[in-house]
Amino acid sequence: MNEDPNTTNRLSELRKRISSWRKEKQRIVLVPTMGALHNGHLSLVDLAHGLGDKVIVSLFVNPKQFGANEDLDLYPRDIEGDLAALARHSVDLVYMPELDQIYPPGFATTISVSGISQGLCTDTRPDFFDGVATIVTKLFLHCQPDLAVFGEKDYQQLMVVRRLVRDLDLPIEVVGGPIVRADDGLALSSRNAYLSKRERASAPLLHKILAQTAQRLKEGLVMQKACSPGVHKLAKAGFELDYFELRDALNLTPLRQLDEMPARLLIAARLGDTRLIDNIAVMR
Ligand code: PAF
Repeated sequence: MNEDPNTTNRLSELRKRISSWRKEKQRIVLVPTMGALHNGHLSLVDLAHGLGDKVIVSLFVNPKQFGANEDLDLYPRDIEGDLAALARHSVDLVYMPELDQIYPPGFATTISVSGISQGLCTDTRPDFFDGVATIVTKLFLHCQPDLAVFGEKDYQQLMVVRRLVRDLDLPIEVVGGPIVRADDGLALSSRNAYLSKRERASAPLLHKILAQTAQRLKEGLVMQKACSPGVHKLAKAGFELDYFELRDALNLTPLRQLDEMPARLLIAARLGDTRLIDNIAVMR
């Protein structure tokens, strides 16, 4: 087994590798990450292997997607663990750009995707999707992938990236990878590391409420009625809800109830100092 995946923090080196792969007609798949990898990320890497010939994983904690009072300094980092995991998953290249490679002095450009970025996570994290769209655009330009894989856990992010790629005619296929959950249902997330033992024991309630609400929607209740027992249970268990919404799965238009189009139930809540997000598909 390869114990030491190829890594680079230099754009020139990355470009050299990409151009030699291109000459060999290899299909390149990018999995962008902020590190602190868990099995959710690694499932995206495995998915990427099935989609193309060469897999690049980027590790970059992007300051532009953190608000002034958010957890940039605390965000978990584990380069050694990440590289060992990526070697086990046979990644062809790990791209770990330095901060000033991505944002050199005087950097003044922001990519902003309107419409689909509004509401949901933007209500409490107003600059988040501009930060995501800007870094993802840079990573796409640096890595020039044929495909890119993003987790469905960050469902609004996935939709923002799809819109970005469509609007800018980027020749990249965006693929969503299914959410990976712990045995008790909690969606895997690097931020789960912040949860105290007690909070970790309560956290699976979020997924349970999603599933129960989905069932009530399928029985024909409107969202306002379907979600109300869950909202109470979450409050009782100490969650502070940011949003709990039913949206069209393709364009994120708010829905009052289930109809014929595929829908997505999305939730974000704080438990202590940790913000958790989750979502599930809901079909009639
Ligand atoms: O989902 C993430 O980890 C990040 O938002 C991403 C897509 C790597 C951009 O920094």
